[in-house]
Amino acid sequence: MTETKKWGYFLSKTSLITTIILFSFSQSSTALDSISGTQTIIDTKNSTLVSKYGKFELGFFSPGSSTKRYVGIWYKDIPVHTVVWVANRQNPINDSSGTLMINRTGHLVLLGQNSSVVWSAKQTRSVQAPVLQLLDSGNLIVRDEKDDENSEESYLWQSFDYPTDTLLPGMKLGWDLRTGLERKILSWKSVDDPSPGDFSWEITLYDYPDSIMWVDSEKYYRNGPWNGLRFSGAPELKPNDLYSYQYIANKDEVYYIFHLRNESVKSRIVANQTNGYIRERHAWNSITKSWYVFQSIPRDTCDKFAVCGAYGNCILWEVPVCQCLKGFRRKGNSNDWSQGCERNKPFDCNNKDSSGFVKFRGLKLPDTAHTWVNQSLSLKECEAKCLSNCSCTAYTNSDIRGKGSGCVMWFGDLLDVREFEEGGQDLYIRMHSSELGGNNGRKVKIAVIVLAVFAVVCGLFCLACYVRKVKARKMLQDNAGPSPIINNYSNENHAENLDVLSFDIDKIIKATGNFSNDNKLGEGGFGPVYKGTLEDGQEIAVKRLSRTSGQGLNELKNEIILIAKLQHRNLVKLLGCCFQGEEKILIYEYMPNRSLDGFIFDQTKRQLLDWSKRFQIVCGIARGLLYLHQDSRLRIIHRDLKASNVLLDNDLNPKISDFGMARCFGGDESEANTRRVVGTYGYMAPEYAIDGLFSVKSDVFSYGILLLEIISGKRNRGFYHLNHTLNLIGYAWKLWKEGQPLEIIDPLLKESSELSLVLRCIHIGLLCVQEHPEDRPKMSHVVVMLDSDSALPQPKQPGFAINKEAVSDSSSSKNENSATNEITVTLLAPR
Ligand SMILES: *[C@@H]1O[C@H](CO)[C@@H](O)[C@H](O)[C@H]1NC(C)=O
Ligand SMILES: *[C@@H]1O[C@H](CO)[C@@H](O)[C@H](O)[C@H]1NC(C)=O
Ligand SMILES: *[C@@H]1O[C@H](CO)[C@@H](O)[C@H](O)[C@H]1NC(C)=O
Ligand SMILES: *[C@@H]1O[C@H](CO)[C@@H](O)[C@H](O)[C@H]1NC(C)=O
Repeated sequence: MTETKKWGYFLSKTSLITTIILFSFSQSSTALDSISGTQTIIDTKNSTLVSKYGKFELGFFSPGSSTKRYVGIWYKDIPVHTVVWVANRQNPINDSSGTLMINRTGHLVLLGQNSSVVWSAKQTRSVQAPVLQLLDSGNLIVRDEKDDENSEESYLWQSFDYPTDTLLPGMKLGWDLRTGLERKILSWKSVDDPSPGDFSWEITLYDYPDSIMWVDSEKYYRNGPWNGLRFSGAPELKPNDLYSYQYIANKDEVYYIFHLRNESVKSRIVANQTNGYIRERHAWNSITKSWYVFQSIPRDTCDKFAVCGAYGNCILWEVPVCQCLKGFRRKGNSNDWSQGCERNKPFDCNNKDSSGFVKFRGLKLPDTAHTWVNQSLSLKECEAKCLSNCSCTAYTNSDIRGKGSGCVMWFGDLLDVREFEEGGQDLYIRMHSSELGGNNGRKVKIAVIVLAVFAVVCGLFCLACYVRKVKARKMLQDNAGPSPIINNYSNENHAENLDVLSFDIDKIIKATGNFSNDNKLGEGGFGPVYKGTLEDGQEIAVKRLSRTSGQGLNELKNEIILIAKLQHRNLVKLLGCCFQGEEKILIYEYMPNRSLDGFIFDQTKRQLLDWSKRFQIVCGIARGLLYLHQDSRLRIIHRDLKASNVLLDNDLNPKISDFGMARCFGGDESEANTRRVVGTYGYMAPEYAIDGLFSVKSDVFSYGILLLEIISGKRNRGFYHLNHTLNLIGYAWKLWKEGQPLEIIDPLLKESSELSLVLRCIHIGLLCVQEHPEDRPKMSHVVVMLDSDSALPQPKQPGFAINKEAVSDSSSSKNENSATNEITVTLLAPR
């Protein structure tokens, strides 16, 4: 008896000692990545777990201005405190009494005041020797001591199964069907309160599962179902330089997962409702030491769930964006699209021959809440099956890989359809036979033949007219300068879409002091720009289209409709417009710091832009341009990117302005040929200036010029050197080849401690201005190159390296040094 007692005493003493030793160990600088047995994480002791390679840290924290205590995980190796997971998001501890530990029954628990259990992990089973470990993926796991940390199947619990507002690489969004576990993202209520808000993102298990963002129980945005290749509603999401992703659906699991291409890069997806119900993919910029937005959802008007109602089709480049699908007409009236559309002619269900299907192309598939899927049916069988069920309204292949396979059928109204220029899908919609167009007997056939003959005759006649007209217009243009971009919108349609944005002329006259010269900010491509102050004190920039200008109206309308739909922190925001009488006016947000050229080419103001500011500007422009090129769904090529078209806000953040010449281009053409070249000498890519070929790569060229101008503080066009006739890029290239690239930089930057980064930017600039468009990187690649220090390819010969451009340009070659010489030019290119 006494013997055992002694031993017991001795044992408890030693365990006390080990505990003390372990405690002091966890306090020391070599932080632990795991605890077991009697070890604890205690708030008052500031103890934390740090993952093996120091990427993530787990500990107690108070969010925002709150004083409440939570257990969370954040990035350890970046200076911005970024919480990616919270344990007790609904049960904060009011003081610092918290303790995280594995209790005697082997369960992970968080204890608060009076050692009451505040939160506990839902472990599947308990084991003899559990270990709590924080992995470098950011995953917090409980495992058996004898199991390997990499064998995921053996985990007793993992935080990746209970995400909060953040999806990290390697985390699954979706379902484990065997256990019924759903992993979904729920936003924080506010910056101070991590408890679940009303904004969520999940994979919803319909027969045809969909990835959906919800606000409460209302659908807010659908990614669309997975079609074998991609999510139907986000065709632009392709594997890219930053990350790869997968969608897995089998009898055991249904989930989405992404992985980063480069382990040393950081990126995460966050659902944020404080910022207005958005889901953003953030990536870490290791140079500016801040997060930036890589992708943001919703992207545009058409992303809003069912914005055009039943059988409505949202088409971003149409005016108005809402249209009825062909064969349907407006239900209800005015601007309210919530009632959507109805059939021109309903089909009779009892009569099988009364209906058939019309194929629509390029769509986002409708809401899949009421669907039925069979992977083994063919498209033909699918059609027959749909036809035999009264409530079936549409069908298509459930998997579009190869020639397509599987069958999905819709029941009831079709909601949330939009049209894509690229990557949309086919959908077969049920219609009354009369809407099918000519497969109904001989009469129809004959009618079709007659019509066809008539059409051919008409066509020939029209072609003749067209040729004459084009000739006439060409003569006109040759004589009287350029004509407006041909526009296929009617004016009334414009009015409908512009209503929302309209400003009253009196308001503008008052705001600008009747366009007084004192308020004049400058002269833009289409006319003067004034500063104005609205009655509520808001400052605005007012762009007044000059009345004498023969061109412009259509470009202007183009600009309004495009800009109004685009939102990005590196694009200037259009607030409204005014079309009254002769006046055509645009109202933008006011940028107190005006444009970039006023800084970089100005002897004194240039000093305000140190290297870190300039780099911030370089990155901002790249992101704005990337958004225009690829993320905005409109695929806009700016075509006139230059220093004077980049405005700076209060904090000198760049915002791209002037989309007057921006132009969407359809289908999957990557470049378009245009008869009219619009742009500014010194920034135009050779293939554009000479052949009129424009593509996203022409913008990349202009961006490269801009980048070199920002670094050197000199204009490409006004660049003069005693010893040679090279322009700025020619000179940069010469120096590069001679191994002295840094000679080009603004002397003000010479003391910068980050010369290697400056060098990298020169390198990227030279890659952008390479002569052949196919050699130039895409903007997405430029953004990645700016954010990492991956190896860069060697640049090849730039285009237009000689100051006397290949384009004959006698009128403006005289006063090259003049700063005001930077006018936008328009010329006819040979075809
Ligand atoms: C903790 O115990 C004290 C004293 O017994 C009591 O007043 C207090 O309400 C308890 N707090 C909690 C959170 O249970
Ligand atoms: C959400 O947006 C707010 C406001 O912009 C910002 O302060 C906060 O950090 C964002 N939250 C996350 C998790 O990104
Ligand atoms: C039509 O399909 C729906 C949904 O699968 C089903 O509930 C209904 O019974 C079907 N009707 C007929 C007539 O087959
Ligand atoms: C990953 O990024 C790091 C730092 O940005 C870089 O040094 C490394 O070369 C990159 N690795 C690859 C494979 O690109």
